Amino acid sequence: MSAPETTPVALVTGGAIRVGKAIVEALVHAGYRVWVHYNRSVEPAEQLAGELGSACLGIVPAQLAEEVARNELVAAVSDASGPAGGRLDLLVNSAASFEYGGFETRSDEDLRRVLEVNLVAPISLVRGLAPTLRRTRGSVVNILDLAAFFPWNNYLDHCTAKAGLWMATRALASELAPDVRVNGISPGTVLWPTGDKFGPGSKARERIVKAIPLERVGTPQDVAEAVLFLARSNFITGQEISIDGGRKIYSPHEFS
Ligand SMILES: NC(=O)c1ccc[n+]([C@@H]2O[C@H](COP(=O)([O-])OP(=O)(O)OC[C@H]3O[C@@H](n4cnc5c(N)ncnc54)[C@H](OP(=O)(O)O)[C@@H]3O)[C@@H](O)[C@H]2O)c1
Repeated sequence: MSAPETTPVALVTGGAIRVGKAIVEALVHAGYRVWVHYNRSVEPAEQLAGELGSACLGIVPAQLAEEVARNELVAAVSDASGPAGGRLDLLVNSAASFEYGGFETRSDEDLRRVLEVNLVAPISLVRGLAPTLRRTRGSVVNILDLAAFFPWNNYLDHCTAKAGLWMATRALASELAPDVRVNGISPGTVLWPTGDKFGPGSKARERIVKAIPLERVGTPQDVAEAVLFLARSNFITGQEISIDGGRKIYSPHEFS
């Protein structure tokens, strides 16, 4: 039997792995049907789709740095003849890069690439999907980062993009009110970045955990729960919740 038309529908960018995957799983658990966007993680996306069964409306590839690919993603999700009939209740902009590099060693091209994926793409998807979201009086959750609030050495491009996304979150909340709510979530460390620098027993791990009042890192499920909370909270817009074990209470902490 096909799902009733009232079943809420979500799109999660970067939904095949790690934090995005946890958000997808939590949404499905809460009764959503979900579009899973991915870029390079083809096999994880296919595996997740298999696990989710009919709750997965489809896995949709897009290189979010490219406008054409973003438009194709919007078209697939909005398609009235598609599996959700063009319905969308929730857009979660989770996909992002996390590029490391000394300020003076990086180029304008590096900066533009990071801004395109971490700032332009989420705004572009909101613009493209706003008509669809308006019809359901839906909402957007942008996954920010504590980097939106603190300058971390060697992550200038990332910090700048995420700070821009926080402003965009408030500006979009204003632009799209009263029809569409737009909020943000700023995770602290909920999954360690890949690579030796953050490996088990590394100085980077030790330094970060010391900066967290709750003395531990979080989990992707902590972020997913906050996404669900914001999706359900019909009187909250233009807000940000930090899921960080209290790290934002303290003074800026150098990440390098
Ligand atoms: N992990 C943490 O502790 C933490 C802390 C603070 C903030 N965050 C934020 O939470 C979100 C998810 O974090 P994460 O650690 O799960 O990220 P991650 O492991 O670095 O994965 C990045 C995700 O973004 C997608 N992506 C990256 N570049 C893309 C591009 N050019 N086009 C399309 N998709 C692209 C990837 O898709 P494919 O794999 O399919 O290519 C992947 O799903 C991000 O917004 C991140 O900034 C995470």
